[in-house]
Order: sequence, then C-alpha cells, then structure tokens
Amino acid sequence: MKKLLTTAVALCAALSMAIADEGMWLPCLIGERIDDMRAKGFELTAEDIYSVNQAALKDAIVLFGRGCTGELVSAEGLLLTNHHCGYGQIQSHSSVEHDYLTNGFWAMNRAEELPNPGLTVSFLVRMEDVTDQIAAGAKPEDIRTAAAEGGKYSTAIESLYYNNKYYLFVYQVYRDVRLVAAPPSSIGKFGGDTDNWMWPRHTGDFSVFRIYADKDNQPADYAKDNVPYTPKRHFTISTKGAEEGDFTFVYGFPGTTREYVTSDFVDYTLNHSNPAKIRLRTKRLDIITAAQEADPAVRIMYASKHASIANAWKKWQGESLGLARRKTVEKKLAYEAEFEQWAAGSEYEGITRKLHDKYSALLPYAVARDYFNEAVYAIELVGFAGRVDKLSEANYKDYSPAIDKAVAVEMFKDFNHNVAPEFVPQWYTAKLNECGSEEALVEWLFGQSALASKESFAAVVAEGGNFDEDPAVLLRKAFDEVARTMIAPHYTSLNREITELYNVYMRGQMAHQSNRTFYPDANLTLRVAYGSVAGYQAADGVYHLPYTTIDGIIEKDNPEIYDYDIPQSLRDIYASKDYGRWGIERDGKLTLPVAFLAKNHTTGGNSGSPILNSKGQLLGINFDRTWLSTMSDLDYDADICRNISVDIRYVLFVIDKIGGAGYLIDEMTLD
Ligand code: ARG
Ligand code: ASP
Repeated sequence: MKKLLTTAVALCAALSMAIADEGMWLPCLIGERIDDMRAKGFELTAEDIYSVNQAALKDAIVLFGRGCTGELVSAEGLLLTNHHCGYGQIQSHSSVEHDYLTNGFWAMNRAEELPNPGLTVSFLVRMEDVTDQIAAGAKPEDIRTAAAEGGKYSTAIESLYYNNKYYLFVYQVYRDVRLVAAPPSSIGKFGGDTDNWMWPRHTGDFSVFRIYADKDNQPADYAKDNVPYTPKRHFTISTKGAEEGDFTFVYGFPGTTREYVTSDFVDYTLNHSNPAKIRLRTKRLDIITAAQEADPAVRIMYASKHASIANAWKKWQGESLGLARRKTVEKKLAYEAEFEQWAAGSEYEGITRKLHDKYSALLPYAVARDYFNEAVYAIELVGFAGRVDKLSEANYKDYSPAIDKAVAVEMFKDFNHNVAPEFVPQWYTAKLNECGSEEALVEWLFGQSALASKESFAAVVAEGGNFDEDPAVLLRKAFDEVARTMIAPHYTSLNREITELYNVYMRGQMAHQSNRTFYPDANLTLRVAYGSVAGYQAADGVYHLPYTTIDGIIEKDNPEIYDYDIPQSLRDIYASKDYGRWGIERDGKLTLPVAFLAKNHTTGGNSGSPILNSKGQLLGINFDRTWLSTMSDLDYDADICRNISVDIRYVLFVIDKIGGAGYLIDEMTLD
C-alpha cells in the first residue's frame, strides 16, 4: 500500500512537471496560458494570438485541405504549407512532359499559377463555448444555422473533453487556391521514407500556394478573373533564426490525440493494434519495395502509395517503442488504482473498472475491424470493388495487378490465421475451400474479376455492362456484410458507451487533480502549442543538436540512392558557397540552416503549421516529429518529444537560388 502511494505521489509530480511543455491550447482561452508563455519569453498578448475584435495571428492561418495547416505570408494571399501537404496537387499537375514532382514547379508570374479544383482553405472566423446553450436545450443545428449567416460561413460544433464542453467553430472557406511553387522532390522530399520521422533531418518540406477571391475579397469558385485574396493579417518572416532555448510556438490544426484514456486503450494500441497493423504493412511494403527495386517504372508508379503506407507503419513502430519505454500502461494502471482510492464513495467510484469491462467487450470487434481495414480492404482490387460506382480508368494509372496479387495472397493468409471464425464471411470460406489455397483463391479472383485490369474494366464499361456479379464485388460484399452486421453495431454501441464513461472519468480526473491544467485532446481544431528550441538525449551518450545545415545534406548526398540524390544546382551552390543573404555562420563557418527541433506538442494535421518566435514572426514550417516522440499522441514526454520544422531561411534560399523565383520574396515581409 505504501509503495502504491509513493508511486502515486511521484506520478502526480511527474504529471504537473510534464505539463510545462505539453499541451495544445484553445486560442480563445490562451489568456489562461499567457503568463506562463510570457515567463518563457513570449512578447505579445493573448489578443495578438486570437481576437474577434481585431486582426490577430489566427487570421494568417488556414486549415489546408482536410488534414494540414497553412499560413499566409503576403498581403496578396501567398500561402506556405508542406511539400507533402501539396503533394496531391503537385502530382496532379505533373505529366511526362511537365514532371513537377521531379523537377519542381515555379510560376514566374500570376498567369502561370495553377488552379486546383476541390482544394479549399478554411479560416477560423471565431470559436465560442456553446456548452451552456446546449445544456439549456438549444439545438446544435439551430446554433449552426444562425452562425452560418445564410451560407456565408461553414460551421461545426465539436465536443471537447468527451462531451463535457461544446464549442462552435465558424469558418470562411476559400475555394480558388492555386499552386505557385514547389521544389523538386529531391529537396521537398529529401530523405524520403528513409529519413521520415527521424532526426537529423534535411528535408525542404514546403510548397507555395495563393488564395484567390472575388472582387469583394469573398470566396468564389475558380474563375480566371478572380483576384489574389487580401488577408486580414499575414506573418512577418524572421530571417534571424532561433537558438537553443529560445521561445517558439506552433499555431495550427492538430488532428487527434488521446491523452486521458485508460491503460486499456494504450494496452490495445501497444499489444494488439500496432503489432498487427505493423506486421500487415511490413508484408505489403516488402512486396512493393521488391517490385520497385526490380523496375524503375514501378518505383515511380508506387512511390506515393509506398510513402503513405510507410508513413503510419513507421510511426506506429516509434509509438510502440515509446509507449514501452515510458511504461505508459503500467503508469496508467497505477494512476487508475490511485484514482479509484480517491474516488471511493463518490460518483466516480468504479469508473475505471467499468471502462475496463467495456474495453474487454470491445476488443474482439476492434481487432476484427483492424484486420478488415489493414488486410482485406488493403488489397487494391477489393478497394476498387468497394467503390465500383465511382471507379474510372484513371484509378488504374498507378496500379500493378502483379503486386496486388502478391499482396492479396499474404493478406488473406494473415487474415485466415488471425481472425476469429465469426468474422470470416461464409461466402469467402466456401470459395477458399473450393480453391484449396490462398494462392489458388487469388488466381481465381484476379483471373475472373473484370476489375483486375484497366483493359477488362474498360471493356465492361464500353459494353454498358455492370459489375454486380463480378467476383471481386461479390467478395467485397461478403466482407461488407459481416462488417455491417457482425462488427459495426457492436463496435459503435460499445464505443458510444465508452465515450459516456469517459465523460464521467474526464470530470473525475479534473476533480481529482484540481490544480492540473487539462488541455483538450486534439480534434482538428485550431490550437497553440509552445516550447523552446531544444535538442534531446537520443541515447546513452548521444545528444542530438536541434539544428541541421546544408553540410548534412552534402554528407548524405548520393546519386546512387534515390532518397539522397540532390539537384546538381544545390551541389554547385554548395561548392561555391553562394548562399546569398540566407547563409549564416555556425561554429566559425559559413553554412546554410536547413531544419530545427523544438519542444512543441504537435501531431498529424500540424504539418504545414507556422512555427513562430516570441514576436509572432515566422521561423519555419512544422512538418514532422522525431522517432522517439511519436507516442506523444498518447503520452507526451517533455524530455524527448520534439517537433521538426524546416527553417524559413532554407525555404527562402530554395525559392530564390534553386527556383529563381525571388520575385515571390519581394511580396513577403522580412525582418
Ligand atoms: N511523417 C510526416 C507526417 O506524418 C511526414 C510524412 C511525409 N513524408 C514521407 N516521407 N512519407 O505526415
Ligand atoms: N507529419 C505530420 C503531418 O503530416 C505531423 C506529425 O505527425 O508530427 O501532419
């Protein structure tokens, strides 16, 4: 008992200390953090960060597309985000004649900027606590309709703290967003999947867009005579950089974190979900990588798919390592035990036990769902079958049936080996028995399905036929049917019950640790994180400095290795040290800054976010975290968690010296 109490005391101390750099704060409540921020070096006010009465920094930030952040850097609507955020747009404008992914793209005047149908950027107009209104009986729909002002704004009501708070978010959405510039992938994606989630890092991960508006500066569909949008506010760029220890903050749209869950969720992540998903993706990646190595055409064809499969795959591995190292499950179990002691006799008594029981009930459905998504639905043919109504020949542009067949065999084998019989469709089992092996099943499936190649797909479409009896469609339907009847209902209702329990547990944690500040979990709403530029102890005896330079690019440079083959122009500039006004002196030598680390608490969605100095000036663009940091979505460790940003001076250097688009810099505000 005594031991337990000591652990609990130590744990509380650890939690309140950790809070120093941890947290993604709501801009409208930043006043509650401002003293702490100022004590750490921030020189502006809460009103500078967020205001409904005057232009504030928030007016220079957008949700870019549906999962990244971008920031305004000129009075004429110029916007920066990551290369990996603009990747889809850059790719869609690329062809063999104009390979912008490989060679980069630099509009030399406004007329050359390229429209991107479907791409939007959303400005947060305001956010408002509507918890009391909803408690008093107001209908969320009515609140939203009133706030939308007849369609002028797009609105959302989001819950925070597991439905303990509700906030209204009002956005203005611009729909004419044009591509202005992108570096060649050998800069914008330098290091590729090899360096992804790693430090030291040398990626020039940026791209440039411009927002267009109608003559009244209002959102409009693309039209040739739309004009550059005039933002309420744009960022001043600092060309002075930041040193270790300097204050920084990241202002953007973090996607999802789960800091207040019980040990059960972490245990599921660490011991069930991540291992299965990692294993399945390893199998897919092994097949894809081998095919890519055998054929340069396949390497290009599967580059984007490989990158997106590998991104989460690598993150989960880092996350599992971090959770194990932090003993997050054990720590949470100790916390829960101590919480229950405190809660005895209160309305919170037994809540962690109830959560535990619900999680136990959920486990088989959650596991089955993982296998459906990561094994069966990961087969591209099964993906085609799932959206056969929307399928076009364009979907086959980057498709290799040979790769997909090899993947399918491995996915079915793994699925058969690991999934409980009640989740295996009868139609599928019967076919498998008929064929005799997974290999034979896949031969039959790909041999018979018209969806398995562009030609056979096109032939059926040309004849005006349909795919109702196509074996891939029948297989997909069999799995969908099990998902719909055997998994989804339980999964959904148990999760609803779990959320209801968390509603209570969240309040309990807040009552229990009444002097701890609880920031709301990320939910793709605008947040402020702050922390200083900092290196970290990467291993015993190994300290990682918080910045990299062009010298590291040159050390990695290797024309033989795709991920490390830089443009010749960069080699030439390095040889002549012609860094122009972007060069700096480090350790007595002239060099060029490339990337830097800081302690900001970030997650997926923060990509493209501005990282700012104590005056709110732009220091760089956030794009990643380090390998050891990735558990921060569940358990943040101030000693080790670091966000990675590309130094704005490297961005400007590339625009200026590699792109020859220095005219863009003229419209920015530099300090
Ligand atoms: N890891 C970063 C994030 O989660 C960057 C991913 C893009 N880069 C890549 N090599 N796949 O999005
Ligand atoms: N790379 C991530 C993104 O695309 C950021 C992160 O997970 O740190 O949003």
